[in-house]
Amino acid sequence: MPGLTLPTVHPLPASDLKTGIGLGAEIRGADLNNLSDQQFEVIHNALYNHQVVIFKGQGALTPKAQYELTNRFDQSSTSYGHGKTLDVKRSILHPDLKTIPHQPQVQVIGNGHVPSFEGLENIKLKHPHHRTFHKDPVPIEEDLNVTRFYRWHIDAALYDLNPPFVTTLMAVSVPKGRRQLLRYDDGTGDEMEVPLGTTAFASGYKMYDILSEEQKEFVRTTKVQYAPHPYVWMSSAKALSDGLGLHSEGLELPESELPLIDESKIQILPMVWKNPVTGALALQVHPCAVQKLHLKDGTIIDDLAEVRRIVHDLQRPGISPKYVYAHDWEEGDLVLFHNRGVIHSVVGAFAEDEVRIFRQCNLAASVPPTGPDA
Ligand SMILES: [Fe+2]
Repeated sequence: MPGLTLPTVHPLPASDLKTGIGLGAEIRGADLNNLSDQQFEVIHNALYNHQVVIFKGQGALTPKAQYELTNRFDQSSTSYGHGKTLDVKRSILHPDLKTIPHQPQVQVIGNGHVPSFEGLENIKLKHPHHRTFHKDPVPIEEDLNVTRFYRWHIDAALYDLNPPFVTTLMAVSVPKGRRQLLRYDDGTGDEMEVPLGTTAFASGYKMYDILSEEQKEFVRTTKVQYAPHPYVWMSSAKALSDGLGLHSEGLELPESELPLIDESKIQILPMVWKNPVTGALALQVHPCAVQKLHLKDGTIIDDLAEVRRIVHDLQRPGISPKYVYAHDWEEGDLVLFHNRGVIHSVVGAFAEDEVRIFRQCNLAASVPPTGPDA
């Protein structure tokens, strides 16, 4: 009988926080279109213990049920994580997302021409290619075989709206994949083999745990100030080859070219966020959107190059190949991830005739993230 059997949680083989990547579990036996409170309790605990949870065979999940699952983690939050900010044409997120008319908190992302999907007609989706964002892209002759992390990030507006607790990503249509070599191209020689069009995740808990004691003290006591309208502000800047932040070349838009700024909506957030279930600490920073650091002694670091260098040094060990989970998408996969405990990145490049359809949902949270001392 539906609702009586509880789902079971199966950690991924490499998921151990101490010895492995520190995230990932598959949940089996959940009826996501008819979720009881007891079933949700299992999913809730699994999410906050494993950060990324995977449900296979969810092809029949409706956009409404996807929204409801996402909403259940914070029932007073009902609007999409970026609110209306995607309407701003200069936002770097604008071309990547199409809104489902009958469920506006759910966005369609992917690649290729889609004649009809959930009330959207004749849409053209474009999987972001790192060439449009990285300063030094992979040479064109290697493009089929070699890829990059496009942009490591948290799903969050980082201006006015609180970062969503969770994101759900549903694979509706997945082209038959080849594999690619992902290169960091940051002088380390790091590389990893990944499935075509993978989504890469790195645990903020792992990222924190592998810091030195001195660094841990620094991140626990430092706050990050994000740029106002960050996705417009950064729209002309170019990314580092490892996708973990931006080059500092003075290309960010000046305040005079941004939409109107309300000072009260600028976000200054802890660098470390506490897990609401386990109490563990995650280093959680959106490296492209940072503008200033507020140190515990009151000093404000506002030299952008310096701010970015500090943040990159702290985050880079946590995205080493041995700590990255690269999900191998199959049609019907629903991935639910703890957006306040991981950073993630789009990876790979599709040909124009490779059609991929995903549905994404996250909701601006009703409360800000909890810092380390709360
Ligand atoms: Fe994302």
